[in-house]
Amino acid sequence: MAAAEPILGIDLGTTFSTACVVMDGRFHYALDNRGDSCIPSVVHFPKAGAVLVGHEAEKLRTTDPVNTIAGIKRVIARPIDSPAARVLDSASAFKLKGVGSSEVKVITRGGEFSASQVASFIVRHLKERAEHRFGRSMTKCFMTVPVAAGQEVRDAMVRIGRMAGLEVLRILSEPVAGALARGLAGAAATDKPSLVFDFGGGTLDTTIVQRQGGRISVHAVGGDDCLGGNDFDLAFARFVANHIWGLAGNDVTKDALLFDRIQRQCELVKRALSLKPESRFFVPDAVGAAGQRRPLETTVKREQLYLPWKELVDRSLAVTAQTVVDAGLKPKDLGNVMLIGGTTFVPQVREAVARTLPVTIDLENDPQTAVARGAALLGAMPHLLLD
Ligand SMILES: Nc1ncnc2c1ncn2[C@@H]1O[C@H](COP(=O)(O)OP(=O)(O)OP(=O)(O)O)[C@@H](O)[C@H]1O
Ligand SMILES: [Mg+2]
Repeated sequence: MAAAEPILGIDLGTTFSTACVVMDGRFHYALDNRGDSCIPSVVHFPKAGAVLVGHEAEKLRTTDPVNTIAGIKRVIARPIDSPAARVLDSASAFKLKGVGSSEVKVITRGGEFSASQVASFIVRHLKERAEHRFGRSMTKCFMTVPVAAGQEVRDAMVRIGRMAGLEVLRILSEPVAGALARGLAGAAATDKPSLVFDFGGGTLDTTIVQRQGGRISVHAVGGDDCLGGNDFDLAFARFVANHIWGLAGNDVTKDALLFDRIQRQCELVKRALSLKPESRFFVPDAVGAAGQRRPLETTVKREQLYLPWKELVDRSLAVTAQTVVDAGLKPKDLGNVMLIGGTTFVPQVREAVARTLPVTIDLENDPQTAVARGAALLGAMPHLLLD
């Protein structure tokens, strides 16, 4: 008898997306052709040929920003006059348009596409990468949404899946999926409330979940839609800009393309500094007056970023404390804190959470894929009840 088709667990993220399945009792990911499971949530509309998704699209953000769409998750099921659409519009080179209460569209050289259509290109790419990797067709998925997502976002996700050639069997919230991946449903799990601290690329989500019998409930939800790894990159880039100003008196923040290149280097060096205490920092043509610029080549130490990042870390702690209060709990009532999302790789973030909350901090090697893993896990044991 042929094995039942595995269900793809899909985490469509603001900055990165991941798809995962459970097969033979193990997690397997859809990988891009670099072998990465975290695929940039970026879509590029080229002059000719098929739409590009992921790293290939990401590379074109600097040279063709008007036709390269990033951050689309924020505006799924949102009209043009929503706060999320306004923020995306002011932060992006690509053009948004909308009529009345219908979903915002992006205007590209390939035509006009609704936010859901753009998102469906990302989901289709994940499906195709999964099919390529597993050598079989994949037609069913569980998708995750932010815990605060309303019914309109959930309905949009079902449509996005359908446009991508997938039947969406279930929608679950990201922190619940993350908590499942971290063993909330397992026999060894605590019955005390857990705090899921999900610090991603664009948002921080803090959620208190609890397993009670066979059911998982959400007690309180908090977060900040404008606080994530991107802000760490920006704070780092401003620190570098001050350094260049001190060296040569040129203000790199006024040069959009150069400042963008600096932010990309900051993102890479930020990742390196999560692993080691110092890292080389290199940006060509950055120092000096336009036309005669020389490269910036230096070493950045982890402790140099302590102050630039302190305000961001403090804000994340304030949000966390508020969520605990909103649940009517004291920090000591928590069973544990589960750190998920790529920004929890940053040692300063981990240390700050551990210092503030006197409970077990549940860390893992791969916090960025936890949400997709949780969705895949639920796909493999759908009897679990969620509130
Ligand atoms: N090793 C690392 N050290 C520091 N930051 C990292 C590391 N790896 C990834 N990140 C950061 O994690 C962020 C992406 O995390 P994640 O994929 O969890 O976000 P997302 O799901 O796309 O966003 P959101 O949850 O806000 O929708 C990026 O800002 C990235 O730079
Ligand atoms: Mg996420």
